[in-house]
Amino acid sequence: MHVLILGGDGYLGWPTAMYFSKRGYDVTVVDNYLRRNNCTAIDVGMLYPVPTLQARAKLWYEKTGREIKVVIGDLTDAELMRSLFDGRVTYSWAVNDEFTGVPETVIHYAEQPSAPFSLIDYKTANLTVSNNLLVTNNLMFALKDLSPDTHVVHIGTMGEYGTPNIDIEEGWIDIEHKGRQDRFLFPRQAGSLYHTTKVMDTDLIWFCVRMWGLRVTNLMQGPVYGLETHETEGDERLYPIFNYDEVFGTIVNRFITQAVVGYPLTVYGRGGQTRGYLNINDTLQCVGKSVETPAKAGEFRIFNQIMETFTALELAEFTQRVGANLGYDVQIDHLDNPRKEAEEHYYNPTYQGLIDIGVEPHYLTDEVMAGMFRVVERYRGNIRKDVIFRGVKW
Ligand SMILES: NC(=O)c1ccc[n+]([C@@H]2O[C@H](COP(=O)([O-])OP(=O)(O)OC[C@H]3O[C@@H](n4cnc5c(N)ncnc54)[C@H](O)[C@@H]3O)[C@@H](O)[C@H]2O)c1
Repeated sequence: MHVLILGGDGYLGWPTAMYFSKRGYDVTVVDNYLRRNNCTAIDVGMLYPVPTLQARAKLWYEKTGREIKVVIGDLTDAELMRSLFDGRVTYSWAVNDEFTGVPETVIHYAEQPSAPFSLIDYKTANLTVSNNLLVTNNLMFALKDLSPDTHVVHIGTMGEYGTPNIDIEEGWIDIEHKGRQDRFLFPRQAGSLYHTTKVMDTDLIWFCVRMWGLRVTNLMQGPVYGLETHETEGDERLYPIFNYDEVFGTIVNRFITQAVVGYPLTVYGRGGQTRGYLNINDTLQCVGKSVETPAKAGEFRIFNQIMETFTALELAEFTQRVGANLGYDVQIDHLDNPRKEAEEHYYNPTYQGLIDIGVEPHYLTDEVMAGMFRVVERYRGNIRKDVIFRGVKW
């Protein structure tokens, strides 16, 4: 089976490429280094240097004998997207330049994923809106015209739902209104412009599934933590990109880095913001199970991809406790909240669907967090305190 990964250089994309390659799939990855370039543009370093995508694919081949074909290019270019399905594609790195064939599965990660980045100014806002919607639209039309039977696994976000004062269902809700009933996408009201592009993505994809009978699984994912996946086997050159700054870092990764460098943990306001979280290894498991049990033609299948929920303050206290056991004196700071969001609210999402198709959850334990501390400690000398908090406001 051929798996095409859009956004294969990213935090989740590269580990996903190794995950499928190790399991015997033919893998092609596509990326234009947008994430790396945006980090450079706003001058936030990563925790450690990461080899190029071509270099990582070569390294993987040398270690495992398995080929991951690499395409470097911008997926907002419709012709580039279509070339991945009709064979006109040019590889930037491959052992064998021959077209692998139409992918049975596309995993779509290729978006600008930072809420603060989307709200720095009108330019980053435009970039986020145009990039995210064009990539998704190009993919939908390529499928309709060239490969309608291909199964897409798209990563949505739990942030699409916002924090409603009712239980959050998995994508769909049955509504009774004036004695009649129908089923609709669950109401979504996102808290950032980036998250709003994901709401629009979901609507765009559902339109295309309805019109053209495409097969799509949408994984509404919560913030991911972690950096070591099983496939790296301890080789740091195969680790994913890792940001610890406010704009691109996710909260657990940021708090651990702050603890290691003695920077008080940046809790926004009272810290009652509750969200659902998952380990990067569970992201791979969820995507893997979704690929093994594809959506049917004309089905828009939606799962909520989280394993447990925490408030921001609970995560800070978790980090403080684990840090203390490792000899760190971790302080917690309550900053004026730069974001417009409820600091205390009802939050009760359902997340059963992925478990029903065979995913086994792993939880954030003291041991898991201590393991992350130990990796981050090795790069303590690279951590720049000036990028940890910038206070991007909305
Ligand atoms: N990481 C998380 O915690 C998290 C949580 C919820 C949802 N998500 C979603 O998961 C997906 C992957 O997230 P991530 O954390 O790996 O982000 P990432 O930025 O690390 O990865 C996305 C990759 O896509 C590439 N890309 C973006 N636009 C492109 C384009 N036009 N052409 C080619 N490549 C392009 C980027 O360069 C980057 O390498 C995103 O859609 C994001 O919205 C992530």
